[in-house]
Amino acid sequence: MSKQIFVFLGPPGVGKGTQAAKLAADLKLPHISTGDLFRDHLKRETELGLKAKGYMNEGKLVPDELVVDLVMDRIKNEDCNAGFILDGFPRTVAQDEALEKALSANGEKVSAALYFDAPRDTIVERISGRRTCRGCGAMYHVKYAPTKQDGVCDACGGETYQREDDAAEKVSERLSEYDNKTGPLVPHYREKGLLKEFDAQGGVDEIYAQVKAFAEGLKSQA
Ligand code: AP5
Repeated sequence: MSKQIFVFLGPPGVGKGTQAAKLAADLKLPHISTGDLFRDHLKRETELGLKAKGYMNEGKLVPDELVVDLVMDRIKNEDCNAGFILDGFPRTVAQDEALEKALSANGEKVSAALYFDAPRDTIVERISGRRTCRGCGAMYHVKYAPTKQDGVCDACGGETYQREDDAAEKVSERLSEYDNKTGPLVPHYREKGLLKEFDAQGGVDEIYAQVKAFAEGLKSQA
């Protein structure tokens, strides 16, 4: 059976990471979030983390050359042999070209691009209410997925915080980066016949039921 390679696409805060994590757990595939990879480098203060920091904190995309090498290295790992889920990559046409080139060199290709969208006020509400655990990275939302105790992670007891780039003044920059640089990937994947659109306005489980049904449908065709 060919590798299952999924791209999760959509504006910041729409909920693609939440859905990608659920599908990765169900399909037992690695969930590769470029945002998480960069945050890990930032936390460890690596050279890459320090280079990415300014861009991320400003709500701008990190330059393609820094992202592409990071992802290409990651997908060579043995845990990607059966496939993988890319969350937040590719985010520019150049990143997509680099991915396609690397995959086609091994006779592989993206199985599908799952595109999530919701009205901007929904997105802003999701971003502004998001809280993340400093310890284990678990994600919460003050209204939709609150911690049992305010500011304390249910999973590990660590402190929850608001990501610097989730501050209101950074969100409009992130949305504008998305519109200008990532938005063009939507028609691009549609033309390739790889785009599957999801209305991300509903609850997490309601959306996930559709995601799972789609992934299972693809698997049965493979
Ligand atoms: P990244 O971490 O990828 O951020 P993003 O794309 O802006 O996406 P988010 O993590 O903000 O949102 P999401 O859609 O995953 O939503 P989530 O599930 O968390 O990237 C951060 C930065 O890194 C970028 O700005 C850039 O600088 C850099 N970067 C990363 N990749 C790059 C690349 N390829 N190229 C260049 N630069 C790159 O959900 C959000 C909140 O809503 C949560 O609180 C959640 O609990 C809640 N929620 C989710 N679903 C629902 C629902 N259905 N109903 C109610 N609440 C919900």
